[in-house]
Amino acid sequence: MAAHGLALISRVRVMERLELTADELLTTTRAVRKRLDLSRPVERSVVEECLQIALQAPNGSNRQTWNWVVVDDGETRGAMAEIWRGGAADLGAAAAAAGAPSRPPAERQPQIMESVSWLNEHLHEVPVLVVATVDGRPEGASMFAQSTMWGSVLPAVWSFMLALRSRAMGSCWTTVHLEREQAMADLLGIPIDEVTQVGLFPVAYTVGTDFKPGARQASADTIRWNHW
Ligand SMILES: Cc1cc2nc3c(=O)[nH]c(=O)nc-3n(C[C@H](O)[C@H](O)[C@H](O)COP(=O)(O)O)c2cc1C
Repeated sequence: MAAHGLALISRVRVMERLELTADELLTTTRAVRKRLDLSRPVERSVVEECLQIALQAPNGSNRQTWNWVVVDDGETRGAMAEIWRGGAADLGAAAAAAGAPSRPPAERQPQIMESVSWLNEHLHEVPVLVVATVDGRPEGASMFAQSTMWGSVLPAVWSFMLALRSRAMGSCWTTVHLEREQAMADLLGIPIDEVTQVGLFPVAYTVGTDFKPGARQASADTIRWNHW
């Protein structure tokens, strides 16, 4: 009976895996906002499995300086969303004061902004919110130390997002709450003097799984063989 139950679980789990080639996975893992399924619960085990995969990422001297605060408690998610919205509002005001950015905004900027404002409204409803952290602080650190710090966690974050996608889930890299890093640290008990937050990642199953490659500049415009 138990063996039968196990076989059933494994069949259900296999159904949740998307049949994507490596290139399809890499080119269709999008910033998902409006297609985060707010009505479908996310099992802790699947998040833990994705994080286990993420820990295979490269990192400086294999010191594994990452940590992940994974929040599924509704009240805490609500408080996190409030801080996140505060950070977004701070950034909006600063951007309005600063004027034009050095690179032009993406062609799809209106759609992106609509999608961003949807997330702003619904963040607290996303079933799981993950804050990725890395040991150390960038303030006053050498370029080598800063590069090692960020480089020791960002590949793992992307691996996490890829692992989610392969399981019919999605996320969106977000950094706006870092305008209020202290408030998030206080809420989640993160020791801010020793640990840096990298971003906040909403996690949910996606509404449909048919994501496509995103709009990007031509790679030839970015590649400089032998010299800048
Ligand atoms: C460092 C970084 C910070 C980002 N911050 C935010 C954010 O705060 N809020 C948000 O909605 N999206 C954020 N994004 C997602 C980007 O808007 C998204 O990756 C970009 O528009 C490309 O989208 P696509 O991959 O779906 O084509 C961030 C992405 C990165 C890599």
